[in-house]
Amino acid sequence: MNILVTGGAGFIGSHTCVTLLNAGYNVIIADNLCNSKKDTIDKIKVITNKDVIFYQVDINQEKEVDEIFNNHIIDGVIHFAGFKAVGESVKKPLDYYYNNVLSTISIIKLCEKYGVDRFVFSSSATVYGNNAVPFKEDMELLSTTNPYGETKVISERILKDTSTANQNFSVAILRYFNPVGAHESGLIGESPNGVPNNLMPYITQVAKRNLQVLKVFGNDYSTSDGTGVRDYIHVLDLAEGHVAAFENLKKGVHIYNLGTGKGTSVLELVEAFERVNNIKIPLEIVDRRPGDIDSCYADTSKVKSELGWNAKRDISSMCRDSWRFETNNE
Ligand code: NAD
Ligand code: UFG
Repeated sequence: MNILVTGGAGFIGSHTCVTLLNAGYNVIIADNLCNSKKDTIDKIKVITNKDVIFYQVDINQEKEVDEIFNNHIIDGVIHFAGFKAVGESVKKPLDYYYNNVLSTISIIKLCEKYGVDRFVFSSSATVYGNNAVPFKEDMELLSTTNPYGETKVISERILKDTSTANQNFSVAILRYFNPVGAHESGLIGESPNGVPNNLMPYITQVAKRNLQVLKVFGNDYSTSDGTGVRDYIHVLDLAEGHVAAFENLKKGVHIYNLGTGKGTSVLELVEAFERVNNIKIPLEIVDRRPGDIDSCYADTSKVKSELGWNAKRDISSMCRDSWRFETNNE
């Protein structure tokens, strides 16, 4: 089976390509490399010892992407391509709506044109907004707090409407919690440009002494130790979730949380990182970051019962693998 993976050179996409190739799928990657590097494609080949077809293309360029559908028989699409920085989306909303929403429309149109009716979409736990934890797939999406989240809500809606109009369209919407970690080879992982916004890449930069101190955004939340609680999930578990979702695709739209169901506070994550890697992380408590919520973790009962998937890797593996990738990629 040939799977077109948009954004396949990125953090989650590259790990999913490895898992797909190891499961016997052929992979075609379409990525414009706006937030990734071409050598990731070679690393995917090294890890799997399999070939990958790569197109450097912007998914919004419909004519160019049309050629990919024309050149190959595509059996399904996993659509990762998009921008993902919450803070940046507040400053550049039009870039986010343009890139994330338009790319989703463009790729679905091509699926319709070429009769490709299996589709997996990267959504985010951010769509739950201020709902109460644990987040469940059937919760009403009351209030996303930023344009990035809104692009995911809109894209989900577009997929639902498309599947209502075309009864053969089978869609899995995957709402990711907080992906961290890296492939155990240390070859692929997350390498954000500039100063990281997310906690784990910030911790690894402090561990490397590229940054002096971790700023903990608030210790007055209503959580066990006052710091923010999140559901960290190893990126390889997430990748395996995509294969499970693809293999179990059914007609209509089906939404699944990809998380562990367990919340970890900022201080707990730092403590685990220090213990596993034997490195001290200097920290200071600063003000809350605007837009952050107390707690975010998944109810995972639906994904377990319907897809038979659950996350296997623990916080220690996440800390070990994140650090291995960082030290391998000086
Ligand atoms: P990433 O930035 O590492 O990967 C995204 C990839 O898409 C990059 O390789 C980038 O070059 C490519 N891309 C972006 N716009 C494109 C376009 N118009 N045409 C072609 N390629 C394009 O991000 P990631 O962490 O791997 O995230 C993948 C998906 O998962 C995104 O849709 C993101 O919103 C979603 N997601 C990520 C997280 C997270 O914390 N990492 C959480 C929830 C959801
Ligand atoms: N944090 C710090 N210091 C930092 C960075 C983060 O204390 O330097 C704290 C945050 O306040 C929060 C926790 O660490 O309590 C996690 O923050 P991240 O920025 O790593 O992750 P978020 O939960 O804010 O958001 C991430 C992605 C979103 C995605 C969401 C899904 O960035 O794109 O997970 O749950 F939508």
